[in-house]
Amino acid sequence: MIDRPRGTDHERSVPLGAWWHDCVGYAVYLPSFADGNGDGRGDLAGLIDRLDHLSVLGADLLWVTPFHPSPGADNGYDVSDYETVDPAAGDLGTVGRLIDEAHQRGIRVVMDLVANHTSREHPWFRAALDDPGGPYRDFYVWADPGPGGGPPNNWVSCFGGPAWTLDPGSGQYYLHLFLPDQPDLNWRNPAVAEAFDGIIERWLGAGFDGFRIDVAQGLVKDAALRSNPQLAPFDPTAPRRDQWAAFEHRHDIVQPGTLDVFRRWRSHCERRGALLLGETSVDHPEQYGRLLPGDGLHLGFWLGLLKTGWESGSIRRALRDPLGAVDDPRRIAWVCSSLDEVRAATRLGGGDEGRRRSLALATLLFCLPGTPFLYQGEELGLLQGDVPAEWRHDPVGAAVTDGRDGCRTPMPWEPGPNFGFSVADRTWLPDGGRTDDDTVAVQRGRPDSWFERYRALVALRRSTPALRQAGDLTWIDDADDALVAFRRSGWTIATNCGPDPVGLGANGTVVFDSDLGSVADRTDQYATGPVVVRPGQAVVLAPPDGTP
Ligand code: BGC
Repeated sequence: MIDRPRGTDHERSVPLGAWWHDCVGYAVYLPSFADGNGDGRGDLAGLIDRLDHLSVLGADLLWVTPFHPSPGADNGYDVSDYETVDPAAGDLGTVGRLIDEAHQRGIRVVMDLVANHTSREHPWFRAALDDPGGPYRDFYVWADPGPGGGPPNNWVSCFGGPAWTLDPGSGQYYLHLFLPDQPDLNWRNPAVAEAFDGIIERWLGAGFDGFRIDVAQGLVKDAALRSNPQLAPFDPTAPRRDQWAAFEHRHDIVQPGTLDVFRRWRSHCERRGALLLGETSVDHPEQYGRLLPGDGLHLGFWLGLLKTGWESGSIRRALRDPLGAVDDPRRIAWVCSSLDEVRAATRLGGGDEGRRRSLALATLLFCLPGTPFLYQGEELGLLQGDVPAEWRHDPVGAAVTDGRDGCRTPMPWEPGPNFGFSVADRTWLPDGGRTDDDTVAVQRGRPDSWFERYRALVALRRSTPALRQAGDLTWIDDADDALVAFRRSGWTIATNCGPDPVGLGANGTVVFDSDLGSVADRTDQYATGPVVVRPGQAVVLAPPDGTP
């Protein structure tokens, strides 16, 4: 039970030893988690009904994706009113109930703060268009055409194509790091910061325990809007990531001034003991470190593991890079699957092999300092959902092949229509080709199910302070370079990324085996001889004397 006072009368300072260090996070993609009102789309009432799933799993920090009114150009990441709740998602009462019900279960709730851009339909942007001389014009980033009449500089959108769209009315371009429907706010305008002060206070007052800052790396842009250095020829027909990678993002992300915004928000959060968690999507670990100094974001998502293959060198690098970039490793929020990328189980090989590898990778994250997050369905070993072309929804996926619908298909709760996600005849995305074995109901309580193995991993993390502490981390090298392995206060953690079994020259008692889950009642498996780690398997060994 979390007894978190609400409202300004009860403000308090952040507790020593920030609570998020001990949490296990769980990311809910709201439109696909659970449909409470039967319209085929997930909503807050559905989420409340399924909160026990998080409790059983052991997750206690819930991040929920946007629930504000939105035209839906980017599934809610195009907000047209920050103050209210999209009626299709619920209302203010449902938000209050979500927070109360979560707190009763000891779960804290952070909401998405989409502050890099608004919807094109937001009244601020409408006013900026309608009245170029008015106060809202400067809420956004405008520039005259470049020489020759084209875009003002060479910046590209994360979704591909130029980051600028012409407003024929004024003859100026506006900036959008995402869709043209998502104009970027001008964080150099103090009035924008003031407007967001109010939004932040409003939702802290409603009882949220913090914010996940969407596009935290991108809020502030170069004051002179200088072009980025070009690294490779630019091909406007190339996949969006290749378009982005054709430039060094020197002037459009991670700009001086970004930290001032974080500091300002942090002062709001700290009065209530709330968390500031950034998306911090960057190209280099050094940029990640620049976003996470001691007085900035409390936590930042490290997204490097969302793109690694099953290869020890790249996985080791993607683990060590952020650890080397931040002053306190507990600032790292770890993920290996997300709402935006191909699910790890598919990316790492697909089928049961990919599922094993995904869990073996998660095992490493759960034993490092920082806060690990699971993405809904990861705990079921879900593969990327199958989304036939006629169902595609993601604006990104509509144009190119690497769309995000496949990682966003609905949660499979139980056998039956729509796997228990919704009673609607048609859901907003298809079920993705799930089977009964994918569902929570079938997996829960079944020894060796993916759910029970993840549950055991979460329990291990929660019951072992040595794995959560900031220090004492030693990497173990093995001759074949197949293992990714480290030691922490006498604990040994190892994952085998190679093709052959590897003997682990370490003392200790195996307490977690990714092929079994908890080994509490199966110690006979490890009764004799050295521990051998099979390909795609992870093991965790407690210190020989058993002291945590
Ligand atoms: C979110 C995406 C979204 C983008 C633009 C990302 O951080 O995770 O789903 O499309 O921001 O708001």
